[in-house]
Amino acid sequence: MPTLRRPSSWSLRTRLIAGLVCLVALVCLVVGVVTELALQRSLVARVDAQLAAAGGRSTTAGGDSHSDGDSVPNQKFPDTGTRTGAQFLLAPGQATGTLGARVADGRLTASGVLDDTGSLQPLSAAESATLTTLTTLPTDGRPHTASIGSLGDYRLLASRTADGDVLITGLPLASVQSTLWQTAAVVAAVAGGALVLTSVAGTVIVRRTLRPLRRVAATATRVSNLPLERGEVALADRVAGADTDPRTEVGQVGAALNRLLDHVTAALNARQASESRVRQFVADASHELRTPLAAIRGYAEVTRRSREAAPPDLAHAMGRVESEATRMTILVEDLLLLARLDSGRPLTVEPVDLTQLVVDAVSDAAAAGRDHHWKLDLPDEPVTVRGDSARLHQVAANLLANARTHTPPGTTVTTRLTATPETVTLAVLDDGPGIPPELLPQVFERFARGERSRSRSAGSTGLGLAIVTAIVTAHAGTVEVTSQPGQTVFQVHLPA
Ligand SMILES: Nc1ncnc2c1ncn2[C@@H]1O[C@H](COP(=O)(O)OP(=O)(O)O)[C@@H](O)[C@H]1O
Ligand SMILES: [Mg+2]
Repeated sequence: MPTLRRPSSWSLRTRLIAGLVCLVALVCLVVGVVTELALQRSLVARVDAQLAAAGGRSTTAGGDSHSDGDSVPNQKFPDTGTRTGAQFLLAPGQATGTLGARVADGRLTASGVLDDTGSLQPLSAAESATLTTLTTLPTDGRPHTASIGSLGDYRLLASRTADGDVLITGLPLASVQSTLWQTAAVVAAVAGGALVLTSVAGTVIVRRTLRPLRRVAATATRVSNLPLERGEVALADRVAGADTDPRTEVGQVGAALNRLLDHVTAALNARQASESRVRQFVADASHELRTPLAAIRGYAEVTRRSREAAPPDLAHAMGRVESEATRMTILVEDLLLLARLDSGRPLTVEPVDLTQLVVDAVSDAAAAGRDHHWKLDLPDEPVTVRGDSARLHQVAANLLANARTHTPPGTTVTTRLTATPETVTLAVLDDGPGIPPELLPQVFERFARGERSRSRSAGSTGLGLAIVTAIVTAHAGTVEVTSQPGQTVFQVHLPA
């Protein structure tokens, strides 16, 4: 069974309709109760007026025991009159159901009730007993309500006769009660109808009223699903003009959302502009540095042959100039490549034979690292992907260069290519010392490199894996690494 949620977590629609229905139910209840009370008061007042008249008739018709009583039989109803002793009830004008009793010295001396035909009927023993307990009824001339056994509720009026007996006259409340019940039933039926109508019409009205709010929410949801964190963002979605009327509450929300989207668009455009300015600057700077670097390297190389003749410190200095120029060239090339990849310029997309590419890259690495063991693990079928072959070659070369430069001689490096119908995976495994654990989380970030690499004279820029990430991401692929001493695995997944 689903648990009932707290009202604060209901939808606005449910809450509005529930509130509406509760309100209508409350109004119906108040109207019903007030109607019943007022009706009861007026009906009982009418019975009381009739009761006063009936009491008067009973008294004048012989409430006095000396002018009436068992000794003088009633001519019209001799039997009943003798049996009940309540002939005073037979006065003309008494209504059906009128009850009469005479009490003398706390004892019931006569009693009876008029039936539908106008004849006097005796009271049953139980009813008489009830009446006897009422002999204490105050003779204050005001009617009182009491239940008389199977006869039901009665309005009773007690009055004292001339000889000191108490004469009780009663009129039934049955018709009053049935009228009250009928009225209650009608009010309940009307209230039920009103509740059904309220919930149905309320649902329609609330749904219709909240429709603009749903449209605004839909716009907000669409915008919130857009990727805003990088690159040029087209934030064209806006709340429709009909839902931005500032005179309505929803319109205010819609207009505010549109203003917010305008601001966000402006901010994103500004961010994009400043990012591309920085990228352009890095690209330009790297490009500009290439020429002087090439010159420095060239001049340093020229001095190589005459170094033997030069003093040792000068020879050493020239050697350092040459090697640092080489290192800086690599750095500048990497920076330029990254800046170009960042600018999101489209790659050339062509079928690339990845098997051939891997074979070439590994044989290059093997030529550069003769102290390592190089292994190849290729599938029988040639593997092809769509992409930029020069860039993909760079990925393999960077991973293999890392496995060569960051591991000691004698390390075995395995390059494995696997293909499934969806993805192609290039894995480079080595059994070297592994990546330091504190470096592992940010190893793909720019200029992230191990402590030992910093002191290395050449080759290490900390940009190799950042370039791998940029190229693989541009190919809609992913790259991941696991590393522990003796087992370092880089895996590049590309869509097949
Ligand atoms: N196969 C590997 N074995 C051990 N450490 C590695 C390996 N590959 C990368 N690293 C570590 O990750 C760092 C970042 O690599 P990379 O981005 O290619 O920069 P670079 O090679 O220029 O230092 C390296 O400096 C090295 O400390
Ligand atoms: Mg590297």
